[in-house]
Amino acid sequence: MAEVEVLSNAAVLLDGGRIEAVGPYAELRDANAGAAVEAVHGVLFPGFVDCHTHAVFGAPRLDDHERRALGEDYKTIAARGGGILQSVRDVRARSESDLLDLTRHRIRVLLAHGSTTIEVKSGYGLDLASELKQLRVIRAAAASERAALVPTFLGAHEVPPEYRARRAEYVRLLCEDMIPAVARERLATACDVFCEPGVFEVSEARSILTAARQQGLALKLHADELEGSGGAELAAALGALSADHLAALSESGVRALAASNTVAVLLPATMVFLGKRGQAPARQLLDAGAAVALATDFNPGSSPTVGLPLVMALAVSQLGMRYAEVVSAVTVNAAAALGLAAERGQIAPGFRADLVSWGVSDWREVAYWMGGQLVTAVWTGGSACPLTPGPISLGPHVQA
Ligand code: NIG
Ligand code: FE
Repeated sequence: MAEVEVLSNAAVLLDGGRIEAVGPYAELRDANAGAAVEAVHGVLFPGFVDCHTHAVFGAPRLDDHERRALGEDYKTIAARGGGILQSVRDVRARSESDLLDLTRHRIRVLLAHGSTTIEVKSGYGLDLASELKQLRVIRAAAASERAALVPTFLGAHEVPPEYRARRAEYVRLLCEDMIPAVARERLATACDVFCEPGVFEVSEARSILTAARQQGLALKLHADELEGSGGAELAAALGALSADHLAALSESGVRALAASNTVAVLLPATMVFLGKRGQAPARQLLDAGAAVALATDFNPGSSPTVGLPLVMALAVSQLGMRYAEVVSAVTVNAAAALGLAAERGQIAPGFRADLVSWGVSDWREVAYWMGGQLVTAVWTGGSACPLTPGPISLGPHVQA
């Protein structure tokens, strides 16, 4: 991860939506005399892969943010009507077309920040109809937008209020009804669980992910975010694509991930936005040989963060990662966290022609100008994307 190959005066030869060759400009020019040429000034990166977002939601949760600033804890905020369940009430009440409109705008903003492949989770519905509604929104947005979207079912994001007194029934509903329905309609490629003491226990997460695997879904896990509970070990044992968050990861969790193919997805913007000092032990993971990726965790509660460059800058300063490591973490490794390492995240022959040019002169600057918006052009599947798609709003909306 600590090595990236940087070419100067280079060219990329495209064949439709794929990359055919990459190498010195003069050489490719001579060998392809008839080809149209588009000049790029600055640095061309592979399109970034944002491998963890919750982009389908209604209103932002501004009050949560301010209450936290004034010292209220998670439970008090939830008791006053905030937290994940506030977004659940909103998504349940909101129409599919309204959610789609909001999601499309957000995807365009993420794309304009350099993310050409974006994983999007459900998880603010927590009943079959509302979870399917969110997943259909992702499918419709994938059809209309230029970024590639990868849908994940997160019906196990929280126990919904109507099942609080009978949580085992909700786990059964997930395993026996919701996961089979999602798989039947091919609305998700992976299943995720928020595995955390007080949300879903390790044993419940194991049941849910086992049911998902039986239905042919890939596995992901929100693991060891706030209190360690052995989520990372579970993800590694089940062969999950990724274990995400990991701010409270134990030493045995580090060893389990390092010995597995499960990617450790770190989300430093989340801990910063939540005002927490702890961060995932990135250096330990890297030194132990684990594959580390970075993502925004874009969501209305803990990370209203739209750009991977900000996350990369935070990863250098908060996680102790090298520039080359953060680049690997938003390209090849993030693609691996979605099972797409063979076709995304590299400028190499055969890879999808998803490319982003940045107005910088040294590639490291992408992870340096913290909060800067330096994208100058984006191509997906070999063709240029408009970067000024009209009025954009991330969501100054009242709750539905
Ligand atoms: O990834 N950890 C759980 N879920 C989200 C938070 C979602 C919310 O607060 O709405 C996360 O941080
Ligand atoms: Fe998350």
